Amino acid sequence: MADTFGFGVIGCGSIAEIAHFPSIAKTEGARLISCCDVNGEAAQQSAEKWGADRWYTDYRKMLDEGDDLKAVIIATPNNLHRNQALYAAKRGIHVVVEKPLAITNAEAWEIVDGCREYGVKLMVGCDRRFWTHNQWAKQLVEDGVIGNVLMSRASLHEHWFNYQNHVAKTDFRLNCEVAGGAAISDTGAHAIDLLTWLNGSKVKRVTGLAKRLAMPEEYTQCDDTAWVLMELENGATACVHCNRFSHAVSQVTELYGDEGTIMTSSDATNPFQSWPMAVYTNKDYNIEDLPQILKDYRWPQLFWVEDVINRPLQKRWVPICPPRSPNNYERMTQHFMDCLMHDEEPLVSGEDGARAIEVMCAVFKSMQTGEWVDLPLQEEIVPPNYVRLPNED
Ligand SMILES: NC(=O)c1ccc[n+]([C@@H]2O[C@H](COP(=O)([O-])OP(=O)(O)OC[C@H]3O[C@@H](n4cnc5c(N)ncnc54)[C@H](O)[C@@H]3O)[C@@H](O)[C@H]2O)c1
Repeated sequence: MADTFGFGVIGCGSIAEIAHFPSIAKTEGARLISCCDVNGEAAQQSAEKWGADRWYTDYRKMLDEGDDLKAVIIATPNNLHRNQALYAAKRGIHVVVEKPLAITNAEAWEIVDGCREYGVKLMVGCDRRFWTHNQWAKQLVEDGVIGNVLMSRASLHEHWFNYQNHVAKTDFRLNCEVAGGAAISDTGAHAIDLLTWLNGSKVKRVTGLAKRLAMPEEYTQCDDTAWVLMELENGATACVHCNRFSHAVSQVTELYGDEGTIMTSSDATNPFQSWPMAVYTNKDYNIEDLPQILKDYRWPQLFWVEDVINRPLQKRWVPICPPRSPNNYERMTQHFMDCLMHDEEPLVSGEDGARAIEVMCAVFKSMQTGEWVDLPLQEEIVPPNYVRLPNED
């Protein structure tokens, strides 16, 4: 088929198995060509399970072989992202890099610059942007339904054990030399990206902290508690907090505008978040001009024709539960495929990924200086205990 794109996957671990292989299989026009893992058994098993033509234990060999490989998904430990992404870019192979894009701000911008120089597309795997309710929240904000967003918050609390003991294939997350951070750069990567995207403004300055409060040093040297306070270029304020010690997972995003409020959540439900999304608008709408998303989900509370009678509509919360399928990863892979076919910029650009890394690095710097840190950063910030790999280019 002329429009078939050959995909490769580097790192056949948890996220590749849960998200990337199944999404490639479901994406029209995408075909899995090859996969690679330093663990040869994992690479072979994934190749057999998902129908890849070839499997490798050396990513360079995989990227060097075959004109049929057009795009690669990098789902390896964080410290490898920079070298693997640049190696692919140099061979004209489009790249999806799992979050976090990199660990230091310099690494992140090297990936962005390299992909630009070699003319390949780069997308960061921030799948939260591909949840339907988060996309609807973005649309409602852009439509002015909650006015100017002035304050916002995103959190993601998930105990180490939830992922590490049951899902992850290796323990790289516990090793600060490799992972660079945890609450700030593992779960925080999602929250920072989602919140800044929903705000639609770059971050102007940052303060915060990332510390290990819960786990013993023998378990990990990474932070397990992170607070990030941001002032955005448009003047709005935003806060991210994440921890890796709460056994009950919670993920909340709150957008406070001067005309309304939107709340979304994705990773778990609880009595306070029994719906993945809720919207309150203070604006005067009639049923005819109510934004379609709200119209579709607004059920009568007292009388079946109340929304026809009341002009303007009664003001109240609208709980929203969009369908889960196609899921966030399927929509993300389909989107990347569409970008390749139609030569468009991916929704989560490399620049977005690098700016999120700047926020994380700025938190480490603010802990050293005790002050707000202006973005963009003027120097490379290396998170505590992280050991940058030698460049392979
Ligand atoms: N988007 C999300 O929600 C999400 C979820 C999980 C993980 N991730 C990201 O995906 C990446 C991988 O995480 P994971 O949970 O799948 O980890 P994992 O430990 O389950 O899998 C990592 C795999 O990479 C392999 N690997 C290590 N070094 C390699 C190398 N040099 N070449 C090829 N393969 C190599 C390991 O053998 C392992 O199979 C991380 O960057 C993580 O932050 C994102």
